Amino acid sequence: MRHTATRDVSLFDRFARLYELGMPAADADRLEAGLAFGTGPFERVLDVGGGTGRAARALGDATVIDAAQGMLTEARASGLDAVQGDAGRLPVRTGSVDAVIIVDALHHFPDAAAAIEDAARVLRAGGVLVVREFDPGTWRGRGLVRMEHLVGFDSTFYTADDLAGLMADAGLVTFHPERGFAYTVAGVKRGD
Ligand SMILES: C[S@@+](CC[C@H](N)C(=O)[O-])C[C@H]1O[C@@H](n2cnc3c(N)ncnc32)[C@H](O)[C@@H]1O
Repeated sequence: MRHTATRDVSLFDRFARLYELGMPAADADRLEAGLAFGTGPFERVLDVGGGTGRAARALGDATVIDAAQGMLTEARASGLDAVQGDAGRLPVRTGSVDAVIIVDALHHFPDAAAAIEDAARVLRAGGVLVVREFDPGTWRGRGLVRMEHLVGFDSTFYTADDLAGLMADAGLVTFHPERGFAYTVAGVKRGD
């Protein structure tokens, strides 16, 4: 299968070994708070754009799906299950997972709407998608946008409301547990 070889993915692939240097752990409390909007148990969790597995490790366990082989190598080295795949075409059966998390990654995907739609597809009824992102409308967000573009990323950032709109378009019921520079939006798949 071919994978998305965007400029962002190539950069993460090349610098995977350095990625976590100086980086704080992912915020487990905020991820758990997002998951709580769904109906547990959450046994099968996908960390899409999961990179080296920072968020998967914060939750205890999750399968990392990422397009950059170098990031997957690092995730596997820390004991995680890690699969190469494109966020817009997940190599996962429809309705087969309890939760999907996307942490600090959506702005690197070339097609965020396709990623949200495919996350909604793979969730079972009552399952939840939790996205943690950065708001480009805040002053820190504007700085981050400039910095990422200077480094060479093609990042596209979304406000919490725009992201909630993408989730609603994908048929999810949306919740905003947290706003600000770093925000969380959760989307729950309706029952049948
Ligand atoms: C900033 S890192 C975030 C990694 C991890 N979620 C974390 O919180 O540390 C963004 C990740 O998104 C991945 N990525 C970018 N485009 C992708 C795509 N189309 N499909 C899957 N992963 C992608 C990159 O390879 C990279 O590992």
